Amino acid sequence: MGKKIKQIAIYGKGGIGKSTTTSNLSAALAEMGLKVMQFGCDPKSDSTNTLRKGKFIPTVLDTLREQSAVKARDVIYEGFSGIYCVEAGGPAPGVGCAGRGIITAVELFKQQRVFQELDLDVVIFDVLGDVVCGGFAVPIREGIAEHVFTVSSSDFMSIYASNNLFKGIIKYSNAGGALLGGVIANSMGPPYSREIIDDFVAKTGTAVMEYIPRSISVTQSELQGKTTIEALPQSAQAEIYRSLARKIAAHQTSKAPAPLEVSALREWAGLWADRLLALEQGKVSEGDAI
Ligand SMILES: Nc1ncnc2c1ncn2[C@@H]1O[C@H](COP(=O)(O)OP(=O)(O)OP(=O)(O)O)[C@@H](O)[C@H]1O
Ligand SMILES: [Mg+2]
Repeated sequence: MGKKIKQIAIYGKGGIGKSTTTSNLSAALAEMGLKVMQFGCDPKSDSTNTLRKGKFIPTVLDTLREQSAVKARDVIYEGFSGIYCVEAGGPAPGVGCAGRGIITAVELFKQQRVFQELDLDVVIFDVLGDVVCGGFAVPIREGIAEHVFTVSSSDFMSIYASNNLFKGIIKYSNAGGALLGGVIANSMGPPYSREIIDDFVAKTGTAVMEYIPRSISVTQSELQGKTTIEALPQSAQAEIYRSLARKIAAHQTSKAPAPLEVSALREWAGLWADRLLALEQGKVSEGDAI
């Protein structure tokens, strides 16, 4: 009984654009008429503020500290276009496991069957890092999220974080964990960024969901405390987020990625470094096959 709720998790290196991309994705899905919850899993609790005019919301952990019995509804706040916003929160920096907020919040929501009660279509977990510790693995480990997407630029550290996430997915997949939906390529623009990401996904048996350019419209919107979908709905950037949302809404089958061993990944990065250097020194010219 009841419809199937699409539960997805977005991972990626720190500062790569997870929350920006997730919030625009939520906004675009809500525009399509879907009931969406965005679940921030970062102790910084800054996932959902561009859905709420730049305002931060009390976290699940903060609320639990203040009152012993918390109803899930007490920690859900309405954002742009009726999006349900939640921030799991975390301990004070340096105290305890940063993943504790996710574990606690997910447990609370499960017990109270919140996703079903709200009749949600999509739940998006915006998760910090690359499965660094137990708590952050929860969305992919416990059969909560079904599909994982990673946000990556063409920078090596970001690709490295995605490759680590792929390893995490493989580790949990046998036990019924989430599988990979694909890579969201963010901040595209520098020469060869698209080729580098394309090469990485080809080598790891995955696919790019969308290429999102680096755009000043994202900065302008953020400074207004809004997503680009809300602040600049007619912009080309908003259209790209809508395209991503349509693909994710239609996405059915995720699969196990094929992560590279660290030595192979370094070798791969070294080959790209050589190619880009040769290009810069004019040994090959733009447009040549490299
Ligand atoms: N496509 C883009 N064009 C321009 N700026 C962008 C783009 N994507 C993200 N940014 C900017 O990069 C910064 C970091 O983005 P964001 O907070 O979404 O990253 P994050 O991965 O969620 O970071 P954290 O790991 O700290 O949670 C923000 O200032 C955001 O506006
Ligand atoms: Mg974030």
